[in-house]
Amino acid sequence: MSTPVNPKTFDAETYGPWALIVGGSEGVGAEIAFRLADRGVSSVLVARKTGPLEETAEAVRARGVDCRIVPVDLTEPGATATIAEACEGLDLGLLVLNAGANTYGCEFVEADMAQVQKVIDLNITSPMQIIRQFGPGLTARGRGGIVVMGSMAGYLGHADMSIYSAAKAFSRVFVEGLWLEMREHGVDVVEVILGVTRTPAMIRAGLDMDLPGMTVSEPAEVAEEVLASIGAGPVHVCGGEGNRKGVEFSSGVDRGRIVAGAHKRMKALRGN
Ligand SMILES: NC(=O)c1ccc[n+]([C@@H]2O[C@H](COP(=O)([O-])OP(=O)(O)OC[C@H]3O[C@@H](n4cnc5c(N)ncnc54)[C@H](OP(=O)(O)O)[C@@H]3O)[C@@H](O)[C@H]2O)c1
Repeated sequence: MSTPVNPKTFDAETYGPWALIVGGSEGVGAEIAFRLADRGVSSVLVARKTGPLEETAEAVRARGVDCRIVPVDLTEPGATATIAEACEGLDLGLLVLNAGANTYGCEFVEADMAQVQKVIDLNITSPMQIIRQFGPGLTARGRGGIVVMGSMAGYLGHADMSIYSAAKAFSRVFVEGLWLEMREHGVDVVEVILGVTRTPAMIRAGLDMDLPGMTVSEPAEVAEEVLASIGAGPVHVCGGEGNRKGVEFSSGVDRGRIVAGAHKRMKALRGN
């Protein structure tokens, strides 16, 4: 994995004393919390399952900082208000919007619209609400950061997960605009683009990550790269040269060739 070019090194004065990590109970989110703790930054961790939240919070506290947990489903109404209540009185310097893996695969014309809506709510509505809730606090301080977890899937259309890839495309373009606005207030914004990453969610989903030619990142190395990328917005492609080349290829203008070619390659890799 390559080290990103970062105009700023991680500064706990800027991004602390508290961070909100939405999707912080496991995988990349938990690894970010550990690394923040090592730099003296306390965390509020948000996820659905209480067990992993409590376990991760204990491990964060063991590193000498404070940690709060918020068990809530981000796709339920009122989730942002619940998070805001849990963060009452905290000086938040960093927002990490990590939760967002795809939850629904289906050919669109056959899709259950309630499931489609959940993918949109998790990847678009919830991050926007949370940024709208906590963004004014960051601009008022005149320093801080916002990290939104993106995906290489957001650079081109995918069959059977057209909503997820489109939601990630939305996220990236939204973040580019937000980066322009927030830099005027001294706040760093970055969309970190992940390639295939060996997270507990991907392992549970049974994704075959050991296909030949596939670059696979580990959550701990991704977390380290995320913290090094906060000042390198608006977009940072994580995971080195292979992923950067993939993004470059996917961003070309000959869309039919690119989209159909990537689809064919993925099918061949998966042997179907
Ligand atoms: N892993 C990859 O290969 C990969 C590749 C490209 C991009 N990404 C991006 O990286 C981010 C993290 O992905 P991931 O693989 O770790 O899976 P994930 O399912 O997004 O899980 C990450 C965290 O979010 C929480 N979470 C998920 N859904 C939630 C909900 N509805 N409400 C509250 N919390 C929720 C999870 O805990 P609970 O399950 O307990 O809620 C967990 O703590 C996502 O944005 C994903 O799109 C991942």
